[in-house]
Amino acid sequence: MSNELKSFLEGLDGLAQDCESRKGQACSLKELEELRIEFLGRKGKLASLMGRLGKLDNADKPAGGKKANEVKQAITALIDSWEGDLNAAESGKALSLFDPTMPGRKPWAGSLHPVTLVMEEICSALVGLGFDHVSGPEVENDWHNFEALNIPPEHPARDMQDTLYVSDNIVLRTHTSGMQIRSMLKQEPPLAVIAPGKVYRRDSDLTHTPMFHQIEGLLVDRNVSMGDLRGTLTAFVRKIFGAGTDVRFRPSFFPFTEPSAEVDISCVMCGGKGEAGGSTCRVCKGTGWVEILGCGMVDPNVFKAVGYDPEQYTGFAFGLGIERVAMLKYGIGDLRMFFENDVRFLEQFA
Ligand code: DAH
Repeated sequence: MSNELKSFLEGLDGLAQDCESRKGQACSLKELEELRIEFLGRKGKLASLMGRLGKLDNADKPAGGKKANEVKQAITALIDSWEGDLNAAESGKALSLFDPTMPGRKPWAGSLHPVTLVMEEICSALVGLGFDHVSGPEVENDWHNFEALNIPPEHPARDMQDTLYVSDNIVLRTHTSGMQIRSMLKQEPPLAVIAPGKVYRRDSDLTHTPMFHQIEGLLVDRNVSMGDLRGTLTAFVRKIFGAGTDVRFRPSFFPFTEPSAEVDISCVMCGGKGEAGGSTCRVCKGTGWVEILGCGMVDPNVFKAVGYDPEQYTGFAFGLGIERVAMLKYGIGDLRMFFENDVRFLEQFA
């Protein structure tokens, strides 16, 4: 072997050792890149050694070239492995910034308001019985809210005490019953609609708020009877309060229905016994019954107001307060809870 070749090969070995001895020197990927350039770059240490390859005898060139390739590969592999180590260390550092065994923070999840929950439950029960869902304005005129519903001008329901007037002739609707009128004006019988929504009254205490929610129901066809009313509302009430609920229809009065009734259900608190834990039940006040809705057969005067022929058609209507149902269902004692939006109250319905 010629001396030139020998010294060239020794130079290559030296370069490989030099590189190995730099292990651990680069503390970052950037420093490692500098090291790579120092050894393998275009003007780096290997490149400058390679300048000597061309000057070797032709017979020595294959051996020199082969060795140079081996050293290049060895150095490349070495630096690549250090890069792997550095990457692992970097992610280890990131990991050590937090404790992966710590319990996670639970994000706050919203929930539907109890009024919305009960409203949806009631609507879906009635839609299941075949009613169509309709909606209408909260700012209503006198005719839809009162006159067409057979509530004459001197009727106590029109008293300023109860009604919030926008102007002489315009009110914030005091009930959803006006939607009976709007639905019948839009459509010929047969018709079966429900109209949920906000209603407004001048009233505010433990059991009254100036705004609350009602749902109105109306069914009109030929030969609709009080029996249909009873059957429909009994099925509905049992769907909401449970199959074992007792239902009674108590004669009552509403201007827009004749005959009229109020529906009571066996008390949700005491199960109709009138007492709980040895004392008088506070929900039904010992009667065993709680009132749940108003209903009746549509008054012929209401049909006349919308141009339906009362000789051909009969129908029934009903209305109930959503908050009242929610209070009974969830055992809530104070109506105002619904509107204070205390998160501790609301999150119980999640
Ligand atoms: N509108 C009545 C109220 O505000 C509730 C009501 C009673 C609606 C009887 C009806 C009904 O449709 O037939 O208290």
